[in-house]
Amino acid sequence: MRHLLPRSWSPATGDVRVGGASLSSLAGRFGTPLLVTDEAHLLARLDAFREAFGPATTLVYAGKAFLCGALLEHLDRAGWWVDVVSAGEMEIVSRAGLDAGRILMHGNAKPRGELADALACGVGRIVVDHPGEVDVLAGLAATVGREAPVLIRLNADVAAVTHEKVKTTGARAQFGMDLATAARVVADAATRAGISLRGVHIHVGSQIRDLSTFRRAAAAVVSFLEPVRSAFPERVDVDLGGGLPVPYLRDDATTDVDAYAAAILGGLDEARAADRLGDHRLFIEPGRSVVATSTVTLYRVEARKTLPDGTELIAVDGGLSDNPRPSLYGQRYEVLAVSRAGEGPERRFHVVGRHCETGDIVNEAALLPDSTVPGDLVAVPVTGAYAHAMSSRYNGLRRPAVVYSADGEAREVVRRETLDDLVACDPILSARPPGSPRHP
Ligand code: LLP
Repeated sequence: MRHLLPRSWSPATGDVRVGGASLSSLAGRFGTPLLVTDEAHLLARLDAFREAFGPATTLVYAGKAFLCGALLEHLDRAGWWVDVVSAGEMEIVSRAGLDAGRILMHGNAKPRGELADALACGVGRIVVDHPGEVDVLAGLAATVGREAPVLIRLNADVAAVTHEKVKTTGARAQFGMDLATAARVVADAATRAGISLRGVHIHVGSQIRDLSTFRRAAAAVVSFLEPVRSAFPERVDVDLGGGLPVPYLRDDATTDVDAYAAAILGGLDEARAADRLGDHRLFIEPGRSVVATSTVTLYRVEARKTLPDGTELIAVDGGLSDNPRPSLYGQRYEVLAVSRAGEGPERRFHVVGRHCETGDIVNEAALLPDSTVPGDLVAVPVTGAYAHAMSSRYNGLRRPAVVYSADGEAREVVRRETLDDLVACDPILSARPPGSPRHP
């Protein structure tokens, strides 16, 4: 189970701490649900990518996995770029003070206005997803008076195996362009005023367990580059996207950043050895594998009951609204006892969230102390990516807080939404006084 937990998670029994701070006291201080990040674990992940890929690789964090000011400060200091897909993400990253030249813009349907703003503020790269985008960018470049530094996104089928909803290459994928179309777009872009063609991008999908897929992705990009090499500058950008998986359940294998780097760098080395690559600059865009395992979500148990078939069920005070992944992808999570850590005997519980949806399930058979009752705290690991970032206010729930914990000190990096936040966009309700007594 250790591979699912923040490194500082200890002890196994008694008062469990993350980053030296007691989870029970954090729950008391910040409320639940609460995302708790082991900041040292997070920083070690940033270092692990740098060490595995070396100084020459451009590390681009996929902002969609999770963004906040504190994380962006760390990324900035560590020299990372950030990939954004909307004006909203762009605003978040810009406010954090990241140099626009280290922002990479993605999107399969980028609104014109967002492209214009990105160009005007001088983003580092814009990834072209469809042929028409070159026209739009050339036009905008003339208006804004700045060249668009572009990568061309390929959709090469490298037989990626993952959940259908996070596979981004193949015959029916809505991202990028097939190789023949991409070659035409390259030829067109190379001659256009206002377009600075820099390189090629591919993101085969997310949670790619078979690392040889990345080697195939590297090979696909290289074999695309060969016939069109003359269209690119001397040194071409090769962006291989993200997709390194993380373990969610105790039996899931750990995937190692070094093995990931070896697959990618090995793939490029083969091409280099065969003189097929030429001078290039490697970009990678990991998201999930940077932040996921640094974080756990703390929940309070609110209900326990026995179902008609004898199953013992516990329901926690969050779920679908703070982590839609079980409902979207059928992902299941481990559930760990916090206030009763180490207590025996254990039994299997069906653990669900509090939402009005039958799919709001955390785990159908979590092993927890039999003594678990309402009021107890439990933790769900590996929630640092695509949980808070995909959270909603479904059922009128307020998005939870996120705290970073290090050296026994915890700081709120995202505060919990208030009831006022919940009605803030409603002109009628936001003008009225609170309607019900508030319990903090
Ligand atoms: N680059 C591009 C162009 C992407 O579309 C993505 C993820 C990444 C990089 C980062 O991939 P990662 O390293 O995080 O696998 N909501 C889903 C994941 C969607 C991923 C979308 N694109 C989930 O919760 O599993």
